[in-house]
Amino acid sequence: MQPEKLIIFDTTLRDGEQCPGASLNIKEKLEIARQLALLNVDVIEAGFPVASPGDFESVKQIAEEIRGTTITGLSRALEKDIEATARALEKAESPRIHVFLSTSKVHREHMVEKAKGEIIEMGVKAIQFARKYCDDVEFSPMDATRTEKDFLAEVTREVISAGATTVNIPDTVGYAVPEEFAELIRYLKSNVSNIDQAVISVHCHNDLGLAVSNSLSAVQAGARQVECTINGIGERAGNAAMEEVVMAVRTRKDFFSTVYTGIETKHIQPCSKLVSSLTGFFVQRNKAIVGKNAFAHESGIHQHGFLKRRDTFEIMDPADVGGEESELVMGKHSGRNALQSKVQELGYTLDKAELDKVFEEFKILADEKKEIFEDDFHTLIQKQKFSVEQNDTYELGSLTCGFETGKVPEAKVVLKDLDKQEHSESASGDGPVDAIYNAIDKITGLSCKLLDYQVMAKTKGQDAQGEVTVRVQHEKREVLGKGAGVNTLEASALAYVNAINKLLLKSKAEATESKELPGP
Ligand code: KIV
Ligand code: ZN
Repeated sequence: MQPEKLIIFDTTLRDGEQCPGASLNIKEKLEIARQLALLNVDVIEAGFPVASPGDFESVKQIAEEIRGTTITGLSRALEKDIEATARALEKAESPRIHVFLSTSKVHREHMVEKAKGEIIEMGVKAIQFARKYCDDVEFSPMDATRTEKDFLAEVTREVISAGATTVNIPDTVGYAVPEEFAELIRYLKSNVSNIDQAVISVHCHNDLGLAVSNSLSAVQAGARQVECTINGIGERAGNAAMEEVVMAVRTRKDFFSTVYTGIETKHIQPCSKLVSSLTGFFVQRNKAIVGKNAFAHESGIHQHGFLKRRDTFEIMDPADVGGEESELVMGKHSGRNALQSKVQELGYTLDKAELDKVFEEFKILADEKKEIFEDDFHTLIQKQKFSVEQNDTYELGSLTCGFETGKVPEAKVVLKDLDKQEHSESASGDGPVDAIYNAIDKITGLSCKLLDYQVMAKTKGQDAQGEVTVRVQHEKREVLGKGAGVNTLEASALAYVNAINKLLLKSKAEATESKELPGP
C-alpha cells in the first residue's frame, strides 16, 4: 500500500503563543510564519482572531502574505468568532476555519453549562455557519479524551454531517496514554458511520510527557493530521513537538510505513532557534532533535564508535535537521551585498531601511568582536526587526551604571518616549541590574516584579553577544522581555524596557478582549 501524507498542522502561533509569557508581536509572528512556510508545514494556525485586535491583525497579515500553505484561525462555536476568523482569512490562498467546543462532562457542567443536546446543536450550527465562508472547516471537541466515548462519536458524526472536513481529537489536558488513545481513534473509525468523509486529526498536550507518543500511536491507528508546535511549546507542559513527530516518522519509516510528511527537515533547527529566541522559551540542552546536545557525543566509548562509523551511535544526520555547526561567516571588511545574501540565506526578509540598520549595527559589532557567527546575525537581525515596535512607548536612550566592590550600585537611565522626549532617573539597588530596573520603574511609574532573569551567550568566545531574557509581572499581567548586546548590562536594560512596552501594549489590548465564553 502506498504511504499516505500525514498532514502537519502547526499551532506554534496559536496554542504555542497562548502559554503565559510567550506572547509575540505581529512582526515576530509573521517571521515565524515565513519560517513555517519554508519548513513546508501543511497548515499554519495563525491565531485566535476574535481574542484581540492584535490577534486579528496578525492572522490577517499572515493570510495575506503566506502562500503554499493552508492558514487557519481558531473560533469558539459562536457566529461572531467565526465571522472574525473568516474576515481575517479573506485573503488567504487556502483558508480553513477551526471551530472548537467543549464536550467532556466536566467542561459541559462547569465551563460551558450546556447539556449534551445543546452541545450537539451548537457544534452543528457553528459548522454550518463556518461552511458559508469556507469549504475547509475543522471541528475540535475540546477535552475529547475525557468525553464519554459514545457521546464523542455522536458529536463527531453530527459535525461531519454538518460539513466538517477535519475532526480533531484533542487531548486537551494531556491525560491520555498511547495505547488507550490509539484505541479511541480506532473506536471512532468503527463507530462514526461517516468518518471517511473527514480527516482525523489529533492534538496532544504534554502534561504526562506523552504528547508525541500519543500522537504517533494515533497515527498508527489511522489519524492523518497531527497538530503540533515547534519545540513543543504550548499551554502548560506544551504540545507535541513537531520536530520529534516529523523525525520519528522519517527516521523510523520502516515502522511508520503507512505515512510520510512533506516537511523540509533541514529548516527544523533554524526554525527552532527563531521560535526559542522570539518567545524567550529556551530549549533544554538534551531536547530531542533541537537541543544543543542532541548530536553531541561525550562518553569515550561513544566517541570512539562514532568516529569509526557514524551510525554506531547516531540514528539521524544532524545536517538533515539543519544542525551543522555555525561557521565563521563574515568579517569587518564584508560589504552590503554579502550581508544581503547572508540575510536571505538565514531566511529573513528585510526592507531597505531594515537592511541599512542591520548593516550599521554589523559594522559596530565587527569592531567590538573579531569573529561574526551566524548566531550573531540572528541576534542583530532580530534586534533590528523586532525590538523597537512602532507603537512601543519607551526606547532606551542611554545608561550609566557604576559598580565597585563593597559599594551600593548606582544607575542612571534615560528613556525616550513616543515623542522622543527624554526622561531621566537615577536609583540604587542590590546589584547593578537591580539599580537599572529601579531607575526604569521610577520613570515609567510601574512597579514591576521581576520573576525571572537569564543571560545566555549567543555565540562562542569571551566577546560573545549576551542575550538577556526577563519575565516581568505587573498586576495580573506577565510578559517576557528580551535584549541583546556585547554589554550585558545594556542588554539587561533593553530586555526590561522591551517587557515594559509589552505590558503597556497588553493592557491596551485586553481592554477590548471578548469575554462571553471561555477561550481555548
Ligand atoms: O487543547 C485543546 O483542546 C485546544 C483546542 C482549541 C484544539 O487547543
Ligand atoms: Zn491545545
